[in-house]
Amino acid sequence: MKLFIKTFGCQMNMYDSARIRVSLNALGYQDTDKPEQADIILLNTCHIREKASEKLFSEIGRLVKIKKKSALIIVAGCVVQADGEELLKRAHTVDIAVGPQNYHRLPELITRYNRQKGRIVLADFPAESKFDFLEPNLAQGASCFLAIQEGCDHFCSYCVVPYTRGCEYSRSAGEIMEEARRLVQTGAKEIMLLGQNVNGWHGDGAKDLGDLIRMMAEIEGLKRIRYTTSYPSEMTENIITAHRDVPKLMPYIHLPIQSGSNRILKAMNRQYTCEEYLRLIERFREVRPDIAISSDFIVGFPGETDQDFQETLDIVRQVQYASSFSFKFSARPGTPASIMKNQIPESVKTERLIQLQDLLLNQQKEFNLNTVGKTLDILLIEEGKEKGQITGYTPYLQNVHISGKKSQIGEIVSVKITNATATSLSGEPV
Ligand code: 5AD
Ligand code: SF4
Repeated sequence: MKLFIKTFGCQMNMYDSARIRVSLNALGYQDTDKPEQADIILLNTCHIREKASEKLFSEIGRLVKIKKKSALIIVAGCVVQADGEELLKRAHTVDIAVGPQNYHRLPELITRYNRQKGRIVLADFPAESKFDFLEPNLAQGASCFLAIQEGCDHFCSYCVVPYTRGCEYSRSAGEIMEEARRLVQTGAKEIMLLGQNVNGWHGDGAKDLGDLIRMMAEIEGLKRIRYTTSYPSEMTENIITAHRDVPKLMPYIHLPIQSGSNRILKAMNRQYTCEEYLRLIERFREVRPDIAISSDFIVGFPGETDQDFQETLDIVRQVQYASSFSFKFSARPGTPASIMKNQIPESVKTERLIQLQDLLLNQQKEFNLNTVGKTLDILLIEEGKEKGQITGYTPYLQNVHISGKKSQIGEIVSVKITNATATSLSGEPV
């Protein structure tokens, strides 16, 4: 029996897919990258912006044409949580739909489906934690995700996450350490700690994320630690100083500002000002001058004026980002911002996004060019697109191509960077 999984959206979804894969492998389903051969086709979906949600329906349409007649179509993820019933109505070929808090029940649902042949939707917030029921996680590569916190209590006015992923929940340090050790035992060299509000982690067994990182750094064989995504006003001094004290913690911080206008930040219900954000960046740079800074941005939030947008460009110029993600505001059903007055015309959003991305891409290129001539440690992750090429990452999360062998995956090699573009580096091992 074969299993084909396609994942949309964020790293949390990639983590969920990894855990689903382990669970279904245990049931006897082997991975395939050919959907036409699969007995289960699973789509793990994203609801964050309209475009992401719509992709699902075109993908289902495409897969239905090529799938084996007997293959089950399972839809998981945030689209199901947001509107599972509607999904089944719109997509007649979906057999099972399961939300992000219920995928631990997939083995049971698949058995039930095979017996009854009735379509199933499961999208409540169960009392139990899925983490208590899943098969233990196993490394699926040299770099692995580990969810330590899920859900969000911030309720930014544009965002569906508090509704799709629920309220904030932190796993205990003991549970996290156990999973981390097992990931390392099974091949992980790098662990990316995940949470929608990861720096707000407050599980049992450690004081805060700073202490959790310090504990995790003690794991022998683990070479690199990262974390994402952070919320500016919840950053603690103990996390910042971990970047000074813990060599395994990589010099990279993803700290979304969203907008450079205090007026818009307030309308977004973001609980910090630009001045406070800039002060935080300064603190990170005091303890770790070379740290790479990254952010998310939204342009065209309701009521955003040219002046507000100029302030976003200004703050980008002040911070100098190493990387970034930027989006046009998307009005999501059920969010306060979706019914605000002064929605911005699509053409204005597009124009602003182009301008912002132009600036951000230039900064990224500059950051990359600055590493040319330096020798950096690269964690090799996978084979490159070209033959004899291996791809890895610098401590600053830049993508690097070198020539090498497949057997080197998982190694950290010293590489002299010889070339840089806006999106990747290349170099030679020294
Ligand atoms: N429209 C556009 N971008 C959004 N994001 C979240 N919700 C929306 C929305 N409704 C962006 C934010 C967030 C990232 C994960 O997605 O920038 O940080
Ligand atoms: Fe969404 Fe805001 Fe929570 Fe991030 S902090 S998940 S943008 S509500």
